[in-house]
Amino acid sequence: MARIGIFDSGVGGLTVVNAVMQRLPEQSIVYLGDTARVPYGSKSAQTVRRYADNAARFLLDRGVDLLLFACNTASAYAIEALERTCPVPVLGAVEPGARAAVRATRTGSIGVIGTLGTIRSGAYVRAIHAKDASLRVALHACPLLVPLVEEGWLEGEVPLLVARRYLDALHAQAPELDVLVLGCTHYPLLRPLLLEVARERWGRDVMLVDSAAAMAEETEVLLERLGPEKRTTLPATFTCAVTDDARIDEIGARFLGRSLGPIERVDL
Ligand code: DGL
Repeated sequence: MARIGIFDSGVGGLTVVNAVMQRLPEQSIVYLGDTARVPYGSKSAQTVRRYADNAARFLLDRGVDLLLFACNTASAYAIEALERTCPVPVLGAVEPGARAAVRATRTGSIGVIGTLGTIRSGAYVRAIHAKDASLRVALHACPLLVPLVEEGWLEGEVPLLVARRYLDALHAQAPELDVLVLGCTHYPLLRPLLLEVARERWGRDVMLVDSAAAMAEETEVLLERLGPEKRTTLPATFTCAVTDDARIDEIGARFLGRSLGPIERVDL
């Protein structure tokens, strides 16, 4: 049986847990949310790399066979170094999202939204250009979207105004884009709103690439490579560990789409 370790700076990575559970319901998952130190999106590269190392060590100590970095910011800053040193396969959020976007674009113009850290790191531009250097990539940091999602403000005038402001800036850079990467764990919850605003701004449908779904798809491929004995497991278990448990039940359930069950409080 395979045990999949999924890490995020907080509860947002439960969108990836949800996607993996739906696609691979027979696999066990150990989730770690660094809720005591969230947000990572506004922190320096050096700090995020240190936190990411702590998290990887924690999950490896729990005996995971695969490590998924659901957090886009941690992936953007730390995944390359981790891939070199980690004893198990590692999958970050950037690569699957970039690959899905490159496959989907017809106009050759891709937009990426994410935290300040993800956008500043340039990780999406590198990942997209490694696949096709002729593609145009427009970037915009949307720092207010994470707190809105955490508060459950997924629709109504405030998120609408914020989304319009951010997507206006992206539209000004790239009026021809046809694919928008949701480069943050939290943004899939805003999908209906972002679709509506994108349609308004670009005057046509823009395809939204959700890195949670793209990661679940690539996890399946990684599992195949682990060998047949790692592909089946019954019963599948879900362990949820967090570094701080304030509001975790309420906010976590929103991301997972169901109650989290027992939660472990841990120190990294
Ligand atoms: N998980 C982060 C990400 O996907 C968003 C929250 C944070 O800033 O830590 O980039």
